[in-house]
Amino acid sequence: MRLILVGPPGSGKGTQAALLRQHYAIVHLSTGDMLRCAVTRGTKLGKIVDSMMKSGSLVPDEHVIALVKERLQEASCDGGFLLDGFPRTLAQAKALQHFLDSRGVALDCVIKLDVPDIMVVERITGRRLDPETGKIYHVTFNPPPPHITHRVIQRKDDTAKAVTRRLEKYHAETAPVLPFYENLGLVQHIDGTKPLETVFQELCKILDGFTP
Ligand code: AP5
Repeated sequence: MRLILVGPPGSGKGTQAALLRQHYAIVHLSTGDMLRCAVTRGTKLGKIVDSMMKSGSLVPDEHVIALVKERLQEASCDGGFLLDGFPRTLAQAKALQHFLDSRGVALDCVIKLDVPDIMVVERITGRRLDPETGKIYHVTFNPPPPHITHRVIQRKDDTAKAVTRRLEKYHAETAPVLPFYENLGLVQHIDGTKPLETVFQELCKILDGFTP
């Protein structure tokens, strides 16, 4: 199964991707996670992208495309993959298409999680992460268990100011990616405002059609 999850910041891509990874044993590629890892490790790329990410800007296409292509060439992706946070620009979508065509493989599905901007800010500012397990929580909608509340953290770009910028970037640069995939007949929409278990069930209903 080769799948892309698209949606605005806070639409639940990372939350659902973690559930899908477990359920379908699929490789989950999150460009946000890869870039945050580069920042934490202090690599050359990490130093370039740190301030861009904090402010809610997009990282230049060439860096992200190179990261994803390198990862997709690993043997672990031969059986399929789930892309989360990529492609985020038309240039990224075209580069991915070119790459997949050159390897004779095709995407099965592009799932768009529909969540209105007004819900995004509440979700993002209430998000908490467990640095030990990587699990995503929300102070209201999915609170961390009491024994780990002391160690959960907030992402540096989860400020109200950066969210506004991320939403602007989403509408200006990422939303135009959808018509590209609609023309290929690949897009399915899911109502991402429903409880996370319901969203997961809706996803599975679609994705079960692509599993042998
Ligand atoms: P990235 O990490 O990809 O961030 P994002 O797309 O802004 O998405 P988020 O991770 O914020 O949200 P999500 O949809 O995963 O939601 P989540 O499941 O956590 O990118 C970060 C930055 O990296 C970018 O700004 C950019 O700088 C750079 N970058 C990354 N990829 C790039 C690319 N391809 N090109 C250029 N730059 C790139 O959920 C959010 C919260 O809501 C959580 O608290 C969760 O518990 C809660 N929640 C989830 N689902 C539900 C639900 N159904 N009901 C109630 N609460 C819910």
